Amino acid sequence: MTTETLVILTCDDGSIDLAMEELHAAASGAALQATLAPGVLLVEAGVPFSVLAAHWRSEPPIFVRHMMPVQAILPLGGHVGDPAFLARALPPLLPPLDPTLPFSVQTRLLAALPYKPFDVNTALAGALSSEGGPPLDVRAPQQIVSVVCAEAPLRQQEGVWTIASADENRKPRLAALAGVSLAAENLSSWAGGMRRFAREEGQISRAEFKLLEAFEVFGLGLPPRGVALDLGASPGGWTRVLRRRGQYVTAVDPGELDPRLANDRGVRHLRMTAEQYLRQGPDLYDLIVNDMRMDARDSARLMVAFAPYLRPHGWALMTLKLPEQQRRPVLDQAFAILRKAYRIAGARQLFHNRSEITVWLSPLEKERS
Ligand SMILES: C[S@@+](CC[C@H](N)C(=O)[O-])C[C@H]1O[C@@H](n2cnc3c(N)ncnc32)[C@H](O)[C@@H]1O
Repeated sequence: MTTETLVILTCDDGSIDLAMEELHAAASGAALQATLAPGVLLVEAGVPFSVLAAHWRSEPPIFVRHMMPVQAILPLGGHVGDPAFLARALPPLLPPLDPTLPFSVQTRLLAALPYKPFDVNTALAGALSSEGGPPLDVRAPQQIVSVVCAEAPLRQQEGVWTIASADENRKPRLAALAGVSLAAENLSSWAGGMRRFAREEGQISRAEFKLLEAFEVFGLGLPPRGVALDLGASPGGWTRVLRRRGQYVTAVDPGELDPRLANDRGVRHLRMTAEQYLRQGPDLYDLIVNDMRMDARDSARLMVAFAPYLRPHGWALMTLKLPEQQRRPVLDQAFAILRKAYRIAGARQLFHNRSEITVWLSPLEKERS
């Protein structure tokens, strides 16, 4: 098995089948080698990492959240000496870094170990950035050294460690799996695609993280003093996020809004369903967000019905709840409905999405103008 084609993918643990479908659509010969942790898959892609990355840069997957190449494998002792050992032993096994591009090391530990990712990051970064090496820049790296420490089935061949195939029945052992890639190839600039946000004071719901992550992943900007419609707003997390970014928000939900929003004159709570608001005759909006808990296709139909009330320069963002069965056909039907009024500008299962995906929509009228 060549290490040029070994890849670690991450996805939501409940979406492994959908992520594997995306992998097979991009690389028909791909095969799962091992599950390293829930939602962390070691795969033999059958094509080089760079080919898969180029494919997904032009057609981004929805469910595969992050990927990294595995170009070097080293068994570990599982003790505090591991970071220093990796700093010594890993660099000669990895492809050379481009000395002109800023880099960072991203480590994930998928086993109980007596050290932290930070310890591996600093030890390895120190070894790689020494004289003549590339500059370390953890904020805006252009190349990433990814390291995953996990139990994996290993085999040694002519002194080189590789992954044993499933029929060899090897007992998994602790190893570091590492690779070098351009940050832009990894699908997410966060280790494993795990984008965490600090809890803000005054935060109303965990759903706020979904909206923050969507702004970042899709690169969405908000108009100054924009007018926003929040469908399915209760208890008001998304409304709060939009208010903090200067938007005037109409929050539609039969449920209550958090009392902290009650005295905010920039929030209008319409205590009704989206369907009722539609019958009443909505205003015009710069953006529409929709986190309504309902069948993905019904939600898509409502978004199409609201499209005439979205200004041509605006955008919309919605979550599509995944059913337990028939998830791919239901999603395809929801997309087909949405395409009657919108271009699907982006669709991802974000780190903060559970049984749902987030979709960014651009009104078709804008596309024509
Ligand atoms: C996941 S919660 C929304 C959380 C919200 N985004 C936040 O950040 O706090 C889903 C909401 O959808 C609302 N909902 C479901 N069907 C609706 C409909 N037909 N019209 C309006 N809201 C609806 C529910 O009342 C519920 O409050």
